[in-house]
Amino acid sequence: MRKPIFAANWKMQKTAGEAEAFADKFLPLVAGLDRVDIVIAPPFTALDRLGHKLDGSHVALAAQNVNAEERGAFTGEIAPGMLVDLGCRYTLVGHSERRALYGENDERVARKAAALLAHGIRPIVCVGESLEQRKRGDALDVVSGQLSDSLATVEASQADDIVIAYEPVWAIGTGETATPEIAQEVHRHIREQLRVKFGEAGDRIRIQYGGSVKPENVDELMTQPDIDGALVGGASLDPEAFSRIVRFEKT
Ligand code: 13P
Repeated sequence: MRKPIFAANWKMQKTAGEAEAFADKFLPLVAGLDRVDIVIAPPFTALDRLGHKLDGSHVALAAQNVNAEERGAFTGEIAPGMLVDLGCRYTLVGHSERRALYGENDERVARKAAALLAHGIRPIVCVGESLEQRKRGDALDVVSGQLSDSLATVEASQADDIVIAYEPVWAIGTGETATPEIAQEVHRHIREQLRVKFGEAGDRIRIQYGGSVKPENVDELMTQPDIDGALVGGASLDPEAFSRIVRFEKT
């Protein structure tokens, strides 16, 4: 069976000191909890200090973005090797905020995913439709297109190292969660596509749901067969709330 995976995406929130304070409260709350994988993606500026706090724990460090190049004249960018150096084990690629605000398209996502895999970092590949696309009835097609183009560079032998996050844009930061049934419909669609592309390995890939996941709705979401965890924004900023989320109860 797939091991659930929960990731905190702090976006542009928390200084390094605040990240350390979070870890001091959060780690005791999840001590010994090994039935799930837990990942925290702070801003770049907190990676080093948070990484030291997480050292020796079962909570993994992640970055929120990366440049696909090895090195060079790319002012303001961060290379995969630099993330390895800081102990990052996962990195988000293709988050809808980066797609909408910073021109991240599927082709770039694919190059980033390939660069991360080449460095032994697991990409968390984000996909999801906008409200207009859902209203037009295009949600499944949009997600399929993003998925196939974003995974264009990934080989079947690398399938076990990727994580997919389905985040409908209309549910991000809005308090409006997709119902478990709506989420499951898209997750099942993603699963089928992964099976076609990767064969049996498609069954092993974890698919997270993201968009206003909270302690109050995580249990219901996790009852769905193809929802294997969550990518959590707002509610992951609070150690109590995020620890309750990762301690979801299967009803
Ligand atoms: P919220 O949980 O704040 O809706 O954010 C979701 C998200 O974008 C996580 O990547």
